Amino acid sequence: MHIKSAEFIVSNSDVAKCPKSRLPEYAFIGRSNVGKSSLINMLTNRKSLAKTSGKPGKTQLINHFLINKNWHLVDLPGYGYARVSKSSKKVFQKFITQYFSFREQLVTAFVLVDIRHNPQTIDLEFMQWLGENGIPFSIIFTKADKLKPKAIENHVQDYKNILLETWEDMPNYFITSSSKNIGQDEVLGYIDELNNN
Ligand code: GTP
Ligand code: MG
Repeated sequence: MHIKSAEFIVSNSDVAKCPKSRLPEYAFIGRSNVGKSSLINMLTNRKSLAKTSGKPGKTQLINHFLINKNWHLVDLPGYGYARVSKSSKKVFQKFITQYFSFREQLVTAFVLVDIRHNPQTIDLEFMQWLGENGIPFSIIFTKADKLKPKAIENHVQDYKNILLETWEDMPNYFITSSSKNIGQDEVLGYIDELNNN
């Protein structure tokens, strides 16, 4: 897919205020600092469409972007950010939960995980929750530039071993690096395929 246009539309913490249009939508979620906003910039060939930061907790709201005037890309806040207070964590969980539960336009979620780490409980629990609620998702491994190919293969295999204990099939997955531009064609090609179905 060629990205002809990418525009920021709106940020909010209320799913009821998300754009009303029925355009297909794709959401990017994962732990704080995993590289969601960087991936969105890489996918859209824009340097700073989504705001990135070395400090976790940069993205705090549901951010809608309109791509090629025919689909929405959504940057979500990270989960598992230890420094937010307990009460704001609750509010946060509520609006994220509501987003996934009520956003009918959502075609699929992309759950980002840092390829350098072993499977983390918080990510596995989140995937479990999506599965139980019938929300389709794919996995995007991020920061592949940080590991050698063999280590990448091993870490993907660790995920497969764990996920296949619960699931019949391994979800679709992609290996990406925003700094080295790896995985752009694969992720955009997949979105294109879903948009045309
Ligand atoms: P929150 O909005 O805080 O939840 O974070 P986020 O998931 O949006 O992460 P963000 O894109 O802001 O990136 C976090 C940090 O990781 C930044 O310092 C990025 O430069 C770095 N980073 C993101 N993607 C990559 C990548 O592919 N490779 C490398 N080496 N670093 C990356
Ligand atoms: Mg972010």
